[in-house]
Amino acid sequence: MIIVLLGPPGAGKGTQGERLAARLGIPKIATGDVLRAAVREGTPLGLEAKAAMDRGDLVPDAVIMGIMKEALASSTAARGAILDGVVRTTPQAEGLADTLATLGRTLDAVLLFEVDESELVRRLSGRTTCPVCQKPYLGRQPGERCSESCEGALVRRADDEPEAIRKRMAVYGAQTSPVIDWYQTHDAPIVRIDALGALDEVEGRVVSALRLS
Ligand code: AP5
Repeated sequence: MIIVLLGPPGAGKGTQGERLAARLGIPKIATGDVLRAAVREGTPLGLEAKAAMDRGDLVPDAVIMGIMKEALASSTAARGAILDGVVRTTPQAEGLADTLATLGRTLDAVLLFEVDESELVRRLSGRTTCPVCQKPYLGRQPGERCSESCEGALVRRADDEPEAIRKRMAVYGAQTSPVIDWYQTHDAPIVRIDALGALDEVEGRVVSALRLS
């Protein structure tokens, strides 16, 4: 299965994407995670992406297309993949469609996570993230240990500062919202998910939207 996760910053794409990937036994490909790893390692990709990410801007489409193509062509994605935040502009949506056509694959679903803005700000302002495994937490402090076996020391993401949060919301409205229209006009299997509620409740909505239960 190839499933695209769309939605504003803090909507829970990463959290639910991880659960869905485990349930389906396929990898989650998150461009944000790939870029943060590159920033940590100081690679040329990381150096190019860091300033834009810290500000809350998007990195260039060409960079994302390279990551997307390499990940989808990899043997680990042979049975499918959950694409978390991989598509944020209409050129990226077009690029994904071309890549899938070249690989002889089809897009099975686009899940659009919907949450009101005040809840998004609450989640992002209170988020800490494990820099090792990328697991996000709400209500835990920087420096506390990750509950996963990596036991990383939790940090606040630079783009979870108030100014960057505002910027990310604005960028979502201007550049990513048009992707929803693009998928609708291209008859993509787009499903809206009410992403407000307990993690298990939201997961249940995802599972029933995909008819997995
Ligand atoms: P990325 O890391 O993908 O950031 P994002 O899209 O802004 O999404 P987030 O990770 O902030 O939120 P999420 O929806 O995954 O929510 P989460 O599950 O963490 O990208 C970062 C940057 O990389 C971009 O700004 C851009 O610069 C660059 N980039 C990446 N891809 C790109 C692309 N395709 N094109 C161009 N640039 C790109 O949940 C949020 C918090 O809420 C967590 O603390 C979580 O514990 C909590 N939470 C989750 N669900 C619930 C719930 N139901 N109830 C209560 N709390 C919840």
